[in-house]
Amino acid sequence: MSQIGTPLVRLDTVDSTNAYAAHQLAWGRASHGMVITAARQSAGRGQRGREWHDSPGKDLLMSLVLLPERMPAMAQFDLAKAAALAVVDTLTEVFKASGKDPSGIRVKWPNDVLVDGLKVAGILIANEIKGEHVVSAIVGIGINVNSTDFDGELRATSLYIETGVEQDLSSLQVRLCAHLQLWWDRIDDPRAIASAYLDRLWTRDRFTGFILDDQDFTARPLDVDEQGRLIVEDEAGKVAAFGLDRLRHAAR
Ligand code: BTN
Repeated sequence: MSQIGTPLVRLDTVDSTNAYAAHQLAWGRASHGMVITAARQSAGRGQRGREWHDSPGKDLLMSLVLLPERMPAMAQFDLAKAAALAVVDTLTEVFKASGKDPSGIRVKWPNDVLVDGLKVAGILIANEIKGEHVVSAIVGIGINVNSTDFDGELRATSLYIETGVEQDLSSLQVRLCAHLQLWWDRIDDPRAIASAYLDRLWTRDRFTGFILDDQDFTARPLDVDEQGRLIVEDEAGKVAAFGLDRLRHAAR
């Protein structure tokens, strides 16, 4: 299997690197490890049908194509965790190199990456499942790198804002691919992935605001199960697992 980051397709402008990767896959032109990056997206996609905005030329926008050989459908949740961990590790490296404390870098369930509660990166994964197996996955990653202007409502930040150091986007992409490769190599070790993910889980063991079935709900995250559901304990001590279809963190 080829390494993650090979081949590398660099685009100037594209609607969405995820959409581009999906076309390449549909036309049989994508291989395992292929990475597509763009300087800007005209129709960047985010979670829950939202848009993903970038500052042209300042942020990392990339999609990775994975063509697993025999990946059980259930392992898609490990893949989502592994992708978030690769982003966390990449950002941790950047923080350390800039002399900044990386302890505020956390994963907000399921796979946003935050710095001290502010969003610095988002991940959007599209899996194709046939029968019992994931036959392809497109892992789209957006990292706010050198951008400085965010709508206050967004509660977002960038690497530049946090570290005061401008980053070279192509070296960052190379580092991210190396971390994605390391976590991909561990994809058959769900326990290692689960424990690293839990260590980095934002608000773990802390009572926090959620929306459950459109109602305010206070609970503390305890763990994530093998189906990717968040296991929480409510204020009455009741423990239950919920998927994204029912539960989300409340906007703060
Ligand atoms: C989120 O909403 O948090 C997920 C954002 C994912 C954005 C990235 S940018 C590169 C790739 N192409 C897209 O259109 N979306 C993902």
